[in-house]
Amino acid sequence: MPKLAWINGTVMPLESAVVSAADHAHLYGDGLFEGIRMYHRKVFKLDEHLKRLYHGIGYLGFDMPHSYDELRAIVLDTCRQADMSEGYIRLNVTRGTGLGLDPKGITPANVMVMISSLALYGPEKYEIGLSCNLSPIRTIPADSLDPRVKCIGRYASNIMAKQIANRQGTGDGLMLNHEGYVAEGTGNNLFLVQDKVIRTPHPSCGILKGITRDTVIDLAREAGYEVREDFLTVFDVRSADEAFFTGTATEVIPFVSLDGTAIGCGKPGQVTLDLMERFKAATHSGVPF
Ligand SMILES: Cc1ncc(COP(=O)(O)O)c(C=O)c1O
Repeated sequence: MPKLAWINGTVMPLESAVVSAADHAHLYGDGLFEGIRMYHRKVFKLDEHLKRLYHGIGYLGFDMPHSYDELRAIVLDTCRQADMSEGYIRLNVTRGTGLGLDPKGITPANVMVMISSLALYGPEKYEIGLSCNLSPIRTIPADSLDPRVKCIGRYASNIMAKQIANRQGTGDGLMLNHEGYVAEGTGNNLFLVQDKVIRTPHPSCGILKGITRDTVIDLAREAGYEVREDFLTVFDVRSADEAFFTGTATEVIPFVSLDGTAIGCGKPGQVTLDLMERFKAATHSGVPF
């Protein structure tokens, strides 16, 4: 039964899966999500995603009805029922159901596991690379809502940035933080390569600390590259030899021009191509279901 959803204990086809209109994420964006991939009948980086989710649950103070181990078992069981060897898992946890902003008196968290497929970019973009615009939308500052928390409400600004990118005919918008340092794409983390050194925005630059980002950092270090988490500016992007983005949905994709100006030679670079291969090989690991 592909494309299904588990919602608060009930399994149903994804197309007919519904939650209450008074769900707090629907009313206020008061929820968290994880996008997770399955490769080769295994869930990739399941525990890393669950840890990030539970850190967010603690930060936002949700009343969560399932322990970590229970939710882990629910995700794996739902994957088994969906019976797909490759796919995309969307795990949503919202504060609960109840009208009104005050979190007092609403139900415990609503939990949803949705199994589907997702491809953000066509295969040609992985060969020629993405062109991006410098987005006028800045990331939300950490003293309002820490960007390391994958909160649903935060995404309204990323969606506006993506809409501007679509209007400008680019693949994505590169977002800066409020201090003017480079943060990330609308759903991706940024990496630059200069003189064989790999640099990526430091987690305190207003980014989601991506799980693909962490995987690529580990793979790059294992391969002998120097990787630095740094405070980067638009100048660093424009003067890089190569650039690429990472994300669960995107995987690893070359980023070859900003506002119409080529980065390096304007083509996917050798380090990028090497890490794309290493990432592909790494997707054979995971939790079997
Ligand atoms: C804003 C943002 N940055 C980065 C990422 C990449 O994170 P991950 O590799 O954990 O998917 C995402 C993924 O959804 C994202 O939404």
